[in-house]
Amino acid sequence: MQELHTILKEALASLSAIESPALLEECKAKYLGKTGLLTEHLKALGKLSPEERPLRGAEINQVKVAIEEALRMQREKISQLELDRQLAAEALDVTLPGRGHGVGGLHPVTLTIRRIRDLFSAMGFEVAEGPEIETDYYNFTALNIPENHPARAMHDTFYLDANHVLRTHTSPMQVRYMEKRQPPYQVIVPGRVYRCDSDMTHTPMFHQVEGLWVSESVTFSSLKTTLIEFMRRFFEQEELKARFRPSFFPFTEPSAEMDVGCVMCHGEGCRVCSHTGWLEVLGCGMVHPNVLAPLGIDTERYVGFAFGLGVERLAMLRYGVNDLRVFFENDLKFLTQFN
Ligand code: DAH
Repeated sequence: MQELHTILKEALASLSAIESPALLEECKAKYLGKTGLLTEHLKALGKLSPEERPLRGAEINQVKVAIEEALRMQREKISQLELDRQLAAEALDVTLPGRGHGVGGLHPVTLTIRRIRDLFSAMGFEVAEGPEIETDYYNFTALNIPENHPARAMHDTFYLDANHVLRTHTSPMQVRYMEKRQPPYQVIVPGRVYRCDSDMTHTPMFHQVEGLWVSESVTFSSLKTTLIEFMRRFFEQEELKARFRPSFFPFTEPSAEMDVGCVMCHGEGCRVCSHTGWLEVLGCGMVHPNVLAPLGIDTERYVGFAFGLGVERLAMLRYGVNDLRVFFENDLKFLTQFN
């Protein structure tokens, strides 16, 4: 049997070199396990005389305690090493330069709505919004478009049920706005509208801005000056030409469509204006008494004009975009140009 002090020396030496928990357990078994070296010594105690036994027992115990202490310290050392290794592996280099943030921006349609809103606000218009799911009544009937009127067929309406539609225009908000308030009214209504239509120049959803000005002194020339001034400010062309062509809308009488001189070629004739020199930009007219009277508005006293313009149409002209659909594809290469 090995001498106790040799066992201790060896045990301490091998323990201090161990770096894995598994090897540490192996080492523990080698000395302190059931058939371990130290255990053999303990078993051998029985063969000693009663006088020798306590002294020998105490010696063995000292060695056992020393090995156990060394095991404990080595275990701590290993877990510290493991922690250090982990920290080193997961270290972040805080001195690395950042990847940089892409700066977001507003969608060109949003930019255009804001521009329209700001320009009309400066002329004294309030801003209101209304529901995109409308009843048949507000979308048509209240706007002097009775059932079986051909104008209903023109709207390519998305019906939700017999009584509800996705609004085909922002005009129903004229009625909703007026029925809650007393005249005079001076308001614009931006918002989404829907039509079952899709090609180069039509998308099933697009945006309109409705306008309504009702007072005791509004005239058709107020309509013209307001809209001409708006278009000149919108396109930043002080000399922008405009003309009003007679048209038909059930909710206005008389009705007109407004053209402005082509903002691309200044009237010379180009592809955008189909070589006419003119661009159609909105529909408008004097509010039909059939719209005002059911709301209890005295049509002898109050007169008004209304208009409806397409936001994407104005955005395309202002930004020189020739395909309506790119506004809704959300390709970042397109959108970031507006940041
Ligand atoms: N609601 C019409 C449309 O969507 C546009 C319009 C025309 C609105 C004349 C008006 C207006 O307020 O007076 O086609």
